[in-house]
Amino acid sequence: MSDPYDPANEGARMDFDGRMSYGDYLQLDRVLGAQKPLSDAHDEMLFIIQHQTSELWMRLAIHEIGAARAAIGGDDFAQAFKTLARVSRIFEQLNSAWDVLRTMTPADYTTFRAALGQSSGFQSWQYRLIEFMVGNRNPAMIRPHAHHPEIAALLETELTRPSLYAAAVAALARGGLAVPQAVLARDPAASWQEDEGVQAAWAQVYRDPRAHWPYYDLAEKLVDFEDYFRRWRFNHVTTVERVIGMKRGTGGTGGASYLRRMLEVELFPELWHLRTVL
Ligand code: HEM
Repeated sequence: MSDPYDPANEGARMDFDGRMSYGDYLQLDRVLGAQKPLSDAHDEMLFIIQHQTSELWMRLAIHEIGAARAAIGGDDFAQAFKTLARVSRIFEQLNSAWDVLRTMTPADYTTFRAALGQSSGFQSWQYRLIEFMVGNRNPAMIRPHAHHPEIAALLETELTRPSLYAAAVAALARGGLAVPQAVLARDPAASWQEDEGVQAAWAQVYRDPRAHWPYYDLAEKLVDFEDYFRRWRFNHVTTVERVIGMKRGTGGTGGASYLRRMLEVELFPELWHLRTVL
């Protein structure tokens, strides 16, 4: 019998007394200490980790969407495309995660649902921030955060900035395409309203992609992102129906009926509608 393999023999560091280790760098004691089920139900751990990992990916999405918006604002399309591609992959990751949660049956969920009280993803400020950043801006959604003034302020500040989509439309105008002045002068706090002139400008890009390649590529990256975002909403409502049927949500909405209404939200309406007229 040979001696057990010792990675130290090929240089693996085994002693971290006084040195930063993996767990120190990642603050794993805090991350892994943050799962605190409120019931004895086995599946509550799955429920907590599913939400926490989603929030971590959302944190990265916010980081990247902010960078993409800044790159578009500076007409740095190469950087914007790389970043937007990453955002879509993040949403793909979030979409795959539903497969794990779907293993939780209605019987499993009812064992701990009461422990959640009135907490719900509806109160996810990061989700709201993503919506606000990309252009779906409803100030009423800030109200559930009034008890956390710094979060409410963060969401309010976001409404003073142009959204990702507004930044893309402004880039289109800088690129010489005819975007109505009234659209460029809009109050950023308002949710995006579909505009015929904006659709006409994008349609011009799609009719001759080679002549407008960066804008064509930008439009397709945005559609790609919205495509993944829609899949996330669809996966969510399907999981919700599978687990709670048509019961009301812990957050107080009609539940699946509310989430079905949200499926109709269009982030970049002109980019979808121009396809009908091409
Ligand atoms: C069994 C699992 C789940 C159930 C039964 C469920 C249920 C619901 C319901 C009924 C709503 C509507 C608001 C309400 O009245 O509560 C909602 C909203 C929401 N949930 Fe979930 N959810 C589940 C998992 C998740 C996961 C894993 C996430 C990931 C973070 C999530 C994020 C959200 C978000 C962001 C909203 C707000 C959506 C919007 O306003 O458009 N949910 N959820």
